[in-house]
Amino acid sequence: MNNQIQVIKKIIPSTFNIEKKEACAFAPSNIALCKYWGKRDEYLNLPATSSLSISLGSKGAFCKIVPLKEAREDLIHLNEKLLPMNHIFTQQILNYLSFFRRSGKNTYQIQFNLNIPVAAGLASSACIFAALIQALNALHQWKLKPSELSILARLGSGSASRSLWKGFVKWQAGEDFLGMDSHGIPLEEKWPELCIGLYILSQAKKPISSREAMKKTINTAVFYKSWPEKVAKDLSNIEDAISKKDFEQLGSTTESNALSLHALMANAVPAIVYSLPETLACMHHVWHLRQEGIPVFFTQDAGPNLKLFFLEKDEAIIKSAFPKLEVIKPFQEKFDYA
Ligand code: PMV
Repeated sequence: MNNQIQVIKKIIPSTFNIEKKEACAFAPSNIALCKYWGKRDEYLNLPATSSLSISLGSKGAFCKIVPLKEAREDLIHLNEKLLPMNHIFTQQILNYLSFFRRSGKNTYQIQFNLNIPVAAGLASSACIFAALIQALNALHQWKLKPSELSILARLGSGSASRSLWKGFVKWQAGEDFLGMDSHGIPLEEKWPELCIGLYILSQAKKPISSREAMKKTINTAVFYKSWPEKVAKDLSNIEDAISKKDFEQLGSTTESNALSLHALMANAVPAIVYSLPETLACMHHVWHLRQEGIPVFFTQDAGPNLKLFFLEKDEAIIKSAFPKLEVIKPFQEKFDYA
């Protein structure tokens, strides 16, 4: 807690009296091409390695925050439902808000509306914390820079540090013990033809949170020691692929990174397996299409759902192979986040 408060003190102005009546913000969800798995500091969510993601355009979280003058407790709504105080999501949000309260007395009504499934490996926590910190910044008129918002979003969920921007974002691990250099950095490159297909196989809540799964993997998986080296190679391959627009290189490295991550988890004791039989069937379908000459690749996070990567020229064929697929073109959306 002490280090978290130190970070807050370094970033947020000590006098912030102006408070608007309400503030709204949106943050996109993001999908890691090179995954973050493992922390060097559990409280500050400082990662053991750097990672790189692509934001999901208009798929993410809207957050509206209204200060409550009279209420004794915060009111947290998720997708139009008021959540009980003992709900795990409410607890996560209250814990995060506790870093920012000026006195125990100020309370808020916070409404989150997500257009992606919650806690199903679609980075819902990333967009939730990124939207919340932007709404707090607007409400209190802190006027923070995106890199500072990224550091603060990271205190809620590591991957939230990458949800402050559109397009490709690298989260540099950094070296500072308080993590002042551990934040997202947007890449300049755009790739208009790039498509992401969300293949939702299950909307059920995941059996184990990514936070717990990360801890178990590091503490028990003997393969974990090879992970930083794998990440370093994959990151450099992915950055190179993005700069050359080499889709094969991007897709194959992304897929290999995800499969290695899930092999690490399977190596934990007891094994952590997020895949369902349908996940494996979908992977085989992707590999079959590749054998037929169609460049399509997948990635998988802490859940059974897959995200497919392909180019716009192959959209029709991919959609006929996966009729339920929701296709996102992150660089073609005209969505204004403000
Ligand atoms: O930020 P967290 O605690 O939700 O962890 C994210 C973990 C992965 O989604 C599997 C990987 C990543 O880099 O987003």
